[in-house]
Amino acid sequence: MNRLVALTLAVIGSAIVSWVSVVPARAQGELVLYCAVQEEWCREMVTAFERQTGVKVAMTRKSSGEFYAQLKAEAANPRGDIWWGGTGDPHLQAAEEGLTIEYRSPVMAQLQDWATRQWEQSKQRSVGVYAGALGYGFNTDLMKKKGGAEPKCWADLLDARFKDEVQVADPNSSGTSYTMLATIVQLMGENPGFDYLKKLHRNVNQYTRSGAAPARAASLGETLIGITFQHDLVTFVVDKAPIKVIAPCEGTGYEVGSMSIIKGARNLDNAKKWYDWALTPAAQELGAKAKSFQVPSNKGAKTPPEAPDFSQIKFINYDFAKYGSSDERRRLLSKWDGEVKNLPK
Ligand code: G6P
Repeated sequence: MNRLVALTLAVIGSAIVSWVSVVPARAQGELVLYCAVQEEWCREMVTAFERQTGVKVAMTRKSSGEFYAQLKAEAANPRGDIWWGGTGDPHLQAAEEGLTIEYRSPVMAQLQDWATRQWEQSKQRSVGVYAGALGYGFNTDLMKKKGGAEPKCWADLLDARFKDEVQVADPNSSGTSYTMLATIVQLMGENPGFDYLKKLHRNVNQYTRSGAAPARAASLGETLIGITFQHDLVTFVVDKAPIKVIAPCEGTGYEVGSMSIIKGARNLDNAKKWYDWALTPAAQELGAKAKSFQVPSNKGAKTPPEAPDFSQIKFINYDFAKYGSSDERRRLLSKWDGEVKNLPK
């Protein structure tokens, strides 16, 4: 009898505990998150944030250019609250077009200069959350079979040996690929840069939607070479995929992965809660757990040892003001659509 009473009390007790732990979650409301990093990292962040705050997160994962287009399309009736991750240029373009709002987080003082520069440049509408270096990688097994010297530079990707062997995203949808387009133009000058992209087109087997997709394809041997951010290739290197990561010899561009609060956010307080939390060391260190090896923007967050060593990479002085402007984006993309994308091979 005593046992029965004890059991009944235990059941009632645990029901109360689970009721208590569910109720505050509901009471904290919701957050609609537009997430533009790798899905695994998005999920890791959502789970941790929900657990710590009790806020229920509805997350969508898309590429940077797709979210920028979505913000524009939804401007009259915004559905998202916060746009977290993805390359910095489209965040700057959204800021310029008034699609996102000003916010000063109490965590600002802890951030790297490049992260605060994004905030200043966007007139306080966007902030840097991580940095990543552009590059490419190749499948070492396939490269051995192909024979010849390993590529080391951007110029090497034009070799006729690599016909249909290079994969890169479409710069309309992908921030990675827009970074590449802007990098090539800055590195070589506009006309020689477009000549380069036209020649590269002969070697491209597919323009993917998402920026990191060519890294996965190279790791699976579906393409010989993939142009992506270098850390997206490292994700597969740590899993022992036969991938070699290249920082192009001529120099390369980089991203300031960013975050912005969407104008008209229905869950503004929760958007700010996410914003402040996502800038903390603990939240930024979740990237490495999801095998995303960017350099975090909080000075107190550990840079994962797997992250590409920026001191060994030759960087261009990427002009974010120019390439993050809406006019320049429109102009470059329509030129790329007209002169490169549909060229016969
Ligand atoms: C990957 C990278 C991020 C980058 C993002 C851009 O997730 O790990 O560092 O910001 O791609 O994605 P997109 O599909 O727009 O090129």
